[in-house]
Amino acid sequence: MDPEALAAKLPPGFLLGVSTSAYQIEGGAEERGPAGWDRFAADPGVILDGSNALVAADHYHRMPEDVALMKNLGVDAYRFSISWPRVQPGGQGPASEKGLAFYDRLLDELLAAGIRPMATLFHWDTPLEIDDAGGWTNRDTAYRFADYVRLVGEAFGDRVADWVTVNEPATLALEGYTLDVHSPGTALWVAGARAAHHLLLGHGLAVRALREVPVTGRIGISNAHSPVFPATRSWRDRFAARNFDILSNRVFADPVLLGKRPPGLVGLLVRLAALPRWGDTKIMAEPVDFYGVQYYFPSRVAAGPPKLTHGTHDGHSKAMLTLPLRLEPWPEYPVTGFGWPASPDLLPVLLGQFADRYGDRMPPIIFTEGGASYPDRPQPDGTVDDQHRIEYLAGHLRAASTPVPGVEVEGYFVWSFLDNFEWAAGYTQKFGLISVDRETQERRPKASYDWYRDVLSARPAPGS
Ligand code: BGC
Repeated sequence: MDPEALAAKLPPGFLLGVSTSAYQIEGGAEERGPAGWDRFAADPGVILDGSNALVAADHYHRMPEDVALMKNLGVDAYRFSISWPRVQPGGQGPASEKGLAFYDRLLDELLAAGIRPMATLFHWDTPLEIDDAGGWTNRDTAYRFADYVRLVGEAFGDRVADWVTVNEPATLALEGYTLDVHSPGTALWVAGARAAHHLLLGHGLAVRALREVPVTGRIGISNAHSPVFPATRSWRDRFAARNFDILSNRVFADPVLLGKRPPGLVGLLVRLAALPRWGDTKIMAEPVDFYGVQYYFPSRVAAGPPKLTHGTHDGHSKAMLTLPLRLEPWPEYPVTGFGWPASPDLLPVLLGQFADRYGDRMPPIIFTEGGASYPDRPQPDGTVDDQHRIEYLAGHLRAASTPVPGVEVEGYFVWSFLDNFEWAAGYTQKFGLISVDRETQERRPKASYDWYRDVLSARPAPGS
């Protein structure tokens, strides 16, 4: 879509940004404590291309160059994450001065460039020592996390505009603890249930810690959400879809937004398996100032075990083959490199569900991630003409900024600024607006970067 036409449709003040995460771009691994993901990725056969994130996009050493590219792009805001093992190696004790100094420089660069900082406090890079003590299955991790959050809040509480406590607890609980696709690589649904509970508890404790500091910025959480549809009208598929919807959407949103456990038998089982304590729900429901939604694709669910061809959204494992339900393809939509259906027209369905389920308890929504991977191949001159990504982003930006009754959407952050370490997929899937040469680390803006820059600059000046 033509950038001017899209820019003209955006509501005034609609926040546009880019998003990344520490573990996926920073590298600089020898200058931080070890993360559970370092060990997980070192296990042969676990990462699709046998790679790891020890160097990644070397953002740790190239940050000023990256912020300059961001300034040239013209975004309003940048969502990055702070690495727990960099700021507090080992997951306990005082903050590392060196670790904090990196984010201090990053914040200075961003503010000097006029870019609004949104900091995520946990984007899956659990310190290795914490994983050794049971990771998020251990209740103590939630309290350790809150201690770390307090250190970060005390250091940067006057400069971060928006705080995200935890990134996509659903993905970590499901892919990391239940399905053995992500670190720490367990395949126990009880572990998944406990991790889900403690991640939400950690979120609530982090909100309290930030408010106690106190920080000046707004506080929220980012959850993955997908509208769920049954593959057929059969009662089995409808039953499977309802349960999948509860598991992937409501287990994570209902406690935060309603202070209630999710509905149905699945909600009850997940809750009981987590061994909750009196008062946990109240902590999870600490009021948030905004709610981060990460919508990549819708889910069409059928009853019955997956076949080898059915992965979760970013990987395969033996554990998956034991599930009683599977995700079915959407032949009516084009698919991204991950095989995800590109379906902006279903984004309003998701927004409508928020309005129905959470009513006036729903805080303003920010799409803290959204984007598409493709196996981009640079032309001989090094340029990448990623028209599919432009189409994906245009459709989703338009859908996200079109009003839906009952919800307020404040903005959209493109995932991702740079090509990065895409977890179990290694470097095989590219989400960036900028390609990164794996050998030389050279950054090359893609056609989508130019397109986004044109959208950003075509917006009317505030107040005009
Ligand atoms: C995660 C990112 C990831 C992206 C694309 C989200 O689930 O927050 O870390 O790279 O999806 O897979």
